[in-house]
Amino acid sequence: MAKRTIVSMPGDGIGRVVLEETIRVLNVAGFDAEYEEGDIGWEFWCKEGNPLPQRTIDLIEKHKIALFGAITSKPKDAAFEELAPELKEKGLVYSSPIVGLRQHFGLDICLRPCKSYIGNPLNFIRRGQGDSIEEPKVDVAIFRQNTEGLYGGVEWSNPPKQVYDALMTHKKFRDNFAWCSVEELSVSTRIFTKKYTERILRAAFDHAVKYGYKSVTVCEKPNVIRETSGMMYKMAQEMQKKDFPQIELWNTNIDAQMMWLTKNPETYGVIVAGNMFGDIVSDGFAGLIGGLGFACSAQFNPDSGIAVFEPTHGSAPKYADYPVSIVNPIAMIESACMMLDYINEFEIAKKIRKAVAEVIAEGKVRTYDMAKMTGRADVVEKGAASTSQMADAIIAKL
Ligand code: NAI
Ligand code: MG
Repeated sequence: MAKRTIVSMPGDGIGRVVLEETIRVLNVAGFDAEYEEGDIGWEFWCKEGNPLPQRTIDLIEKHKIALFGAITSKPKDAAFEELAPELKEKGLVYSSPIVGLRQHFGLDICLRPCKSYIGNPLNFIRRGQGDSIEEPKVDVAIFRQNTEGLYGGVEWSNPPKQVYDALMTHKKFRDNFAWCSVEELSVSTRIFTKKYTERILRAAFDHAVKYGYKSVTVCEKPNVIRETSGMMYKMAQEMQKKDFPQIELWNTNIDAQMMWLTKNPETYGVIVAGNMFGDIVSDGFAGLIGGLGFACSAQFNPDSGIAVFEPTHGSAPKYADYPVSIVNPIAMIESACMMLDYINEFEIAKKIRKAVAEVIAEGKVRTYDMAKMTGRADVVEKGAASTSQMADAIIAKL
């Protein structure tokens, strides 16, 4: 088979380190690929006024599959301050290259699996009967609609007249908000389309079938947010009945789900939600399996096949300049395993996950987060593994 080309986008800060270590692991595991580096992040905003240059978009368009580390973003004023002097007159406005990628390629499906590793000292534990300590095995796959909803960006402060007039046609608005002057009004919309709601639901059900989960839970708030959450749940009911009768369909409210999270996390299988609730519930579950050092994700477009795999964490600038990197590379390595699954390299993915599981179960090599230390430059002297020592340990198991 022809050698694959993967677009590698290290980005900023610790994104650069974790991606480099991950590629080292992929190579040793026998994944035969070439990597073409795509420019993305703060450096390119400062130098070129664009954190997501067109050449990077072209690269992804060409090769379809990308591994992404993390980027730094800063508030509008700070972003302007750091622009190269010759670019300051150009009226450039910073916008997140991650959102840019999602929008440009229509990466509407976001998958964030949260699966606990046996022996991870960061696993959630709870008190059971007779004060016993229980460590529930968490294995959920969260599907988050990635392009619509509250993060769709359709919002106003001091909305224009047509928008205000349209709002006034709604009885609830007239009854409850007409007292507020338009200048003091801010509105963010929560848009769900049938097309993309159908796609995220189908992706969730398909995943349940493919990986043997018995249930799909719609985690929204249909009793209150009747139109959008209500539409998603209704469509899920129809889809389950028609196409997935073998999968159970459950329905939870996001608020209650966050409460149940610690009560019975092992009960859930696939969870599907809109953009904002998907973001919330996936962070909640990630906390049960070790937090940012373990939280991996994929974003993809089922039509074009374009997919970007990345850890959930950011660039952690405070650790970026340590002479020896201390952060946990497992979230990035797990994201790479998701990539391998996506391109049907199941055996290599399995091999890497097994190696990671062995290192964690053995408990000899632990990054500072696993060792429950405060992140500082001296943690390695104090016995925590560095980023590359963790990668070395995984490689040794391979
Ligand atoms: P962050 O995820 O970079 O770091 C938060 C804290 O989590 C760190 O200080 C560290 O204690 C811990 N942490 C993160 N990754 C870790 C790892 N691999 N191993 C061990 N500990 C880890 O989020 P923060 O500090 O809010 O944002 C820093 C920058 O990253 C900002 O500029 C932000 O905009 C950006 N960001 C980028 C994201 C992305 O590229 N996908 C996502 C989140 C934030
Ligand atoms: Mg989040």
